[in-house]
Amino acid sequence: MMRLDALDSPERRAVDLIKEVAREKNLRPYLVGGPVRDLLLGRSVIDLDFTLEEGSSTLARSMAKRLNGRVRSYPQFLTYKVTAPELPEIDIASARSEKYRAPGALPTVSEGRLQDDLMRRDFSINAIALDVISDELHDPTNGKRDLESKNIRVLHDESFIDDPTRIYRAIRLATRLGFAIEPHTKELMERAISSGALRTVSKERLWRELFLAFEEESAPAVIEALDGTLEVLFGPRQIDRSRLERAQQIAKSDASLDREALFTSAILHGNASPVDLEGSGFSQRRARTLMQIANELGRYSDSLAEAETERQRFRLLKHASPELLGVLGPSEHVARFQEYRNFRLPLRGSDLEVPVGPHIAKALERTREAVFVGEIAPEEARAFAQRMAIKYLNREHVSG
Ligand code: CTP
Repeated sequence: MMRLDALDSPERRAVDLIKEVAREKNLRPYLVGGPVRDLLLGRSVIDLDFTLEEGSSTLARSMAKRLNGRVRSYPQFLTYKVTAPELPEIDIASARSEKYRAPGALPTVSEGRLQDDLMRRDFSINAIALDVISDELHDPTNGKRDLESKNIRVLHDESFIDDPTRIYRAIRLATRLGFAIEPHTKELMERAISSGALRTVSKERLWRELFLAFEEESAPAVIEALDGTLEVLFGPRQIDRSRLERAQQIAKSDASLDREALFTSAILHGNASPVDLEGSGFSQRRARTLMQIANELGRYSDSLAEAETERQRFRLLKHASPELLGVLGPSEHVARFQEYRNFRLPLRGSDLEVPVGPHIAKALERTREAVFVGEIAPEEARAFAQRMAIKYLNREHVSG
């Protein structure tokens, strides 16, 4: 009755193997949470999460052995991660119940039944289990009904207080799936926000949720919908959707660019300070990149527009990160600078017959620029570089 055969082939192979190993070892694994939700919606499944009332360690280790893969254990979550080449990541967990001792803190976990494991979860649509041996669905909170009516619904009134990161999860999922947040759930969420629940969560965890929002296909819409929950990190802000769209477009155009820095700078546009980044884990270099975009974009665009020569523009753009170039572009000036960066001269330091030292690299760089902008002809490059090297060398002597 459930379409496990609708899975893409690596996921299907993983499920088939789980079934095989489970039969051999007489175990009963359930596929749970996100993958069941996505299967029922006909969406593609990325990670595979299994839960067992008994024998999770046996299943995890036997799977790893069968696949020549690796198994890592996370005892605090009673979970194993099995990885193997060309297969999705497989999480195998012991069914557990959770107790939240303090709002916003991580729960204490103890072994439980499948029912406990489903009841501890965030939303009804994530609280469905599929018995992969019998194909039977366990849906104690009517998640299927909510999938059909496209609703995000919490399982009890304390859910957002126990774990306020669920506020972010609700918004992210609703936007991704085009679902509504069911009215009572919405009311609980708003109540939790206005009572300061988000302040009980560490900044690190809040940033993790924000980074997950940046990964979404519809990231700009998700971030815009998160407006009102970000105050706890950044104070009051006006979020500009078009800046987010631009960040998305740039990140998509070049996967080597720092997506997190691009989105964060779009959120903090005009007024970013290192305090805003507390808990984010951004390195100093990445923080500089994003602060440059957030705070200096206007200055860069103005100076670029005012610059009268190509050399002036290159001087300016030399200090811009690739991400800032992305935000400034596409423009004739940026394109020309990119071309310049890739331009090479067939000239080496040893061709100059000048004593070695830092003046050589400087002279070569100056010559590269001069040829590129047409200040000199290519055949003049060597003589020009020599003159420049001597000039810089003399200057070094004077200042030294
Ligand atoms: N979960 C929860 N409360 C949280 C985080 C997770 O109850 N704060 C439960 C949900 O049942 C969820 C499952 O743990 O389905 C796995 O979490 P995760 O992998 O983060 O989410 P997915 O639902 O798989 O969603 P995604 O598609 O975003 O990976």
